[in-house]
Amino acid sequence: MSSPPYLQRRRQLASQLGPDAVAIVPTASEHLRNRDSEFLFRFDSYFHYLSGFGEPNAWLVITSDGHTTLFCQPKDLEREIWDGIRLGPEAAPVALGVDAAFAVTELEQRLPKLLENKATVWYPFATHQGLEGRIDGWLKSVRARARFGAQCPDTQRDLCSLLDEMRLIKDAHEQATMRRAAQISAGAHIRAMQLSARMLRQGEDVREYHLDAELLHEFRRHGSQYPAYGSIVAAGANACVLHYRADDAPIRDGELVLIDAGCELDGYASDITRTFPANGKFSGPQRALYDLVLASQNAATAATKPGARFTDPHEAAVKVLTQGMLDLGLLDRNQVGTLDDAIHHRHYFAHYMHRTSHWLGMDVHDCGSYVEPSELGEVSSRHDPLSGEVIQNRPSRILRPGMVLTLEPGLYVRPSDHIPREFWNIGIRIEDDAIVTGNGCELISRDVPVDADDIEALMRH
Ligand code: GLY
Ligand code: MN
Ligand code: MN
Repeated sequence: MSSPPYLQRRRQLASQLGPDAVAIVPTASEHLRNRDSEFLFRFDSYFHYLSGFGEPNAWLVITSDGHTTLFCQPKDLEREIWDGIRLGPEAAPVALGVDAAFAVTELEQRLPKLLENKATVWYPFATHQGLEGRIDGWLKSVRARARFGAQCPDTQRDLCSLLDEMRLIKDAHEQATMRRAAQISAGAHIRAMQLSARMLRQGEDVREYHLDAELLHEFRRHGSQYPAYGSIVAAGANACVLHYRADDAPIRDGELVLIDAGCELDGYASDITRTFPANGKFSGPQRALYDLVLASQNAATAATKPGARFTDPHEAAVKVLTQGMLDLGLLDRNQVGTLDDAIHHRHYFAHYMHRTSHWLGMDVHDCGSYVEPSELGEVSSRHDPLSGEVIQNRPSRILRPGMVLTLEPGLYVRPSDHIPREFWNIGIRIEDDAIVTGNGCELISRDVPVDADDIEALMRH
């Protein structure tokens, strides 16, 4: 039996292709890691969104009337002994609800036929290496049959533009999967926090990889296929390296630990960051910075609601963070001026250099335009004071129910003679996953506490 969301999504896509059109969607390629060992295969998100099919070497072809053809690996007893069971084209129509299925070895021969007498071919632009060349080859084959009256498509269009819009609004099936993914990840963060405090209490040598292993164990224990991205487990000053990866650095009593990790479940990512005291108790300066980041996240959360702009949570967070930087002496009022000056000239960039949000979905930095489509033409430009580049501003996306974004403000303090020493090398980020609802947003990752007192209480046990 086909799962209803895939059939429904293919129909929705087909209805937007226009007349006499064909859409071609390949899954991801397999990649060698070294010699003859491959990286773990991960399907292409667009392909899986439309098929629910996870095998490599597969293609979908969808026409304007919704007719869907799947090309997949043929049954092959010899290969299946080594690599695992294949669905095969005979079983695919019933299993996936596609109208026809053929062995992928027939792709070259059948694709030109599927393109013949069509006006438009859609495929994802600039996403699959070599795809443009293959489409070119199939179009050439169609053209070679012109003397038999075959018409060749004369328009190529980017399928991402349609699929990105569809994927931006998560349906009920997607939201349910994302809630579960976030719950699993929250549980993993709790385990990592508790392990850190327990090992330190017992006088053991705690390393970043101990906490990384705890996260992985909890992800897999609940059926997650893999982490949605490389987990960051950063002890002490390592937290100021934004893309630090869990390594073998010791986790010391008195330091903070920043963990940015989330599992992928059935194709959907979660993305959670917590920062906690390794031993379970914040110091005064750590707590002051932590509470500031949390206050900025609360402001961002309050700004996340339908009708607001995508940039509103960021602007709300920046305002709170920058005021806090002035109050705590991370920015010198005599040098940067007022709050408005510090924001306008982006002085806060010294300690907060990334955005507060990104779309979240099948990909951790999910697809979907950050510009409001109805206002695409309204361009203004400004000179960026930091990079010197001219930046073209277009109106930011208006939030609608079903969109999912992260809220992840942070503060990263590198040593500097202009900053109180007690704050040096502290890196803090707090990240939660928000589904935009009818009147606000739902934070789906809050099964792991975020309030400093609650984190301390959790780590005592
Ligand atoms: N973990 C990647 C991010 O937070 O964007
Ligand atoms: Mn994120
Ligand atoms: Mn993250």
